[in-house]
Amino acid sequence: MGATSSTALWYASRSTGVIALVLLTAVLVLGILVTRKRSLPGLPRFGTAGLHRNLSLLAVLFVAVHVITAIADPYVTIGIAAAVIPFTSAYETFWLGLGAAALDLMAALIVTSLLRARIGRRTWRAVHWLSYAAWPVALAHSFGSGTDMQHGWLLWLGIACAAAVAAAAIWRVAAALARPGRAQLPAMMLADVEQAPEPERAAAGAGVR
Ligand code: HEM
Repeated sequence: MGATSSTALWYASRSTGVIALVLLTAVLVLGILVTRKRSLPGLPRFGTAGLHRNLSLLAVLFVAVHVITAIADPYVTIGIAAAVIPFTSAYETFWLGLGAAALDLMAALIVTSLLRARIGRRTWRAVHWLSYAAWPVALAHSFGSGTDMQHGWLLWLGIACAAAVAAAAIWRVAAALARPGRAQLPAMMLADVEQAPEPERAAAGAGVR
């Protein structure tokens, strides 16, 4: 493969990685809105839930292209195994290991969402909490292994993503704390999903949140 196609793969991998990160940020923020029974201005609640689900599918697509192009790029050697088994890549062992860990966590979210009817809502909800871990792991991978995200406007984009998720998470915890029985905070936060109306539950179950 020539230098031109390698360069094209390199750019494709980096750009799809950035788009995937932005989409995952939107998915996480929308998931918190849906759980709190809120919606985006001008959108009904079921529209917000649908957006959450569809953006999560789009994010999966971009992550897949990001990983496939990174593996296909001959400039560096990253095996298929290293993309899914954390910290086994000879290239950028730690930072790519975080990417692989984020990928595995996302896979667990997707598989359990697809099998939700079989595994039950309780198990699904417990696994869905992994989304709160998958996102910062993906962010750390993006800042650590990316060449572009360490300066300029892409650095600001990453900071904006982090600020959006931090604000949504703080709002989520504050809302749960404001309710009685704050000692049972995690259980109450999980229970919010259970109390949501049926279309929102279905949407929350279908997407990565
Ligand atoms: C949820 C999963 C993932 C997300 C959201 C993600 C996102 C990103 C982002 C935003 C960048 C920075 C792009 C730049 O600065 O130009 C990046 C870099 C990179 N990622 Fe991922 N990534 C994920 C998983 C993976 C996995 C599993 C692999 C393994 C093949 C991988 C391989 C790479 C490589 C090779 C780079 C470029 C390193 C460099 O520029 O030197 N990523 N990723």
